[in-house]
Amino acid sequence: MLGFKQEFTTLNNGNKMPSIAIIGTGTAWYKTEETPETFSQELVDQIKYALTLPGIVHIDAAEVYRTYPEVGKALRESHNVKPRDEIFITDKYSTQLKISENPMVGLTNGLKKLGLDYVDLYLLHSPFISKEKNGFTMEEAWKYMEDLYKAGKVKNIGVSNFSMADLQRILKSCEVKPQVNQIEFNAFLQNQTPGIVNFCRENDIQVVAYTPLGPLQRKSKNFEQENFHKFVKQLAEKYDKSEAQILLRWVSKRGIIPVTTSSKEKRIKDAQYLFTFDLTDSEVEKITQLGLKHEPQRMYWNDQYDKFNSQSQKI
Ligand SMILES: NC(=O)c1ccc[n+]([C@@H]2O[C@H](COP(=O)([O-])OP(=O)(O)OC[C@H]3O[C@@H](n4cnc5c(N)ncnc54)[C@H](OP(=O)(O)O)[C@@H]3O)[C@@H](O)[C@H]2O)c1
Repeated sequence: MLGFKQEFTTLNNGNKMPSIAIIGTGTAWYKTEETPETFSQELVDQIKYALTLPGIVHIDAAEVYRTYPEVGKALRESHNVKPRDEIFITDKYSTQLKISENPMVGLTNGLKKLGLDYVDLYLLHSPFISKEKNGFTMEEAWKYMEDLYKAGKVKNIGVSNFSMADLQRILKSCEVKPQVNQIEFNAFLQNQTPGIVNFCRENDIQVVAYTPLGPLQRKSKNFEQENFHKFVKQLAEKYDKSEAQILLRWVSKRGIIPVTTSSKEKRIKDAQYLFTFDLTDSEVEKITQLGLKHEPQRMYWNDQYDKFNSQSQKI
């Protein structure tokens, strides 16, 4: 607990959320089915470990990850360790792959598997929604989200992977504005879709970044010679922090909430302790600029968004 410090971000409805999510339950943990054979005790153990850390612990879940059984088990086995109001759960309704009838049914199923009465943040996982595929339009999907919000089943609502045009459609017809847009964001992909980060800022929609450690996940053969990596290493030495912590802190200094994950306790702890150090404005700017010089590195939704690669390293 010594030296622990946490930061919170205030959303457009006045609610606060932790400024980092330390356990994403997708990517490395992602599965295509929920069966006893695919159950990951390793994920349960890492979530349970995360729940022993101080402060409010933010976990990122989704219907399509098929990891509700693991998250649910970890939560049930930790109820004496951390009270519900010190846990922040983000969940997402699968729009790309139809798993449940609609967001109302999806949330009900999810809550049951997670053993919860509510989630803190519920997102539409993607804007790729159509009457033919999903049985409802994007606007109708958002109406379900608003109803869940009004009923108190979800404390905040938002979207994920939405472009400016998608958000404009929602903003035109909504009663409750999205609180959050969760998108791919890191130094090597500073706009998932053209202008999205500034658009969200201008419209008071909080950006949440998945793949914040993209530059560490895929390194070139000569990465040690690259100015970007040299500078991140130099900062890690200066602050006595890991390179991952430097990159996560950079995301947060850009006003964005990183969603990270790890199979290693040390890295999970490092993420929860992110706010025990700071970067200067000029260091933040230098990482931004060195990152922008790197070619775009997109890891998700390539089929839909590779067409924007030439604009994704412009801010
Ligand atoms: N909304 C969406 O469409 C969407 C899409 C993708 C992801 N997400 C969410 O975001 C979460 C995080 O995504 P992400 O996994 O891409 O996050 P990330 O924080 O960029 O990467 C985490 C991965 O990086 C590895 N890592 C950590 N430190 C490292 C280092 N120093 N060097 C090299 N690798 C390192 C970790 O491996 P170790 O286990 O070895 O530490 C882990 O597998 C997901 O789990 C999911 O919840 C959402």
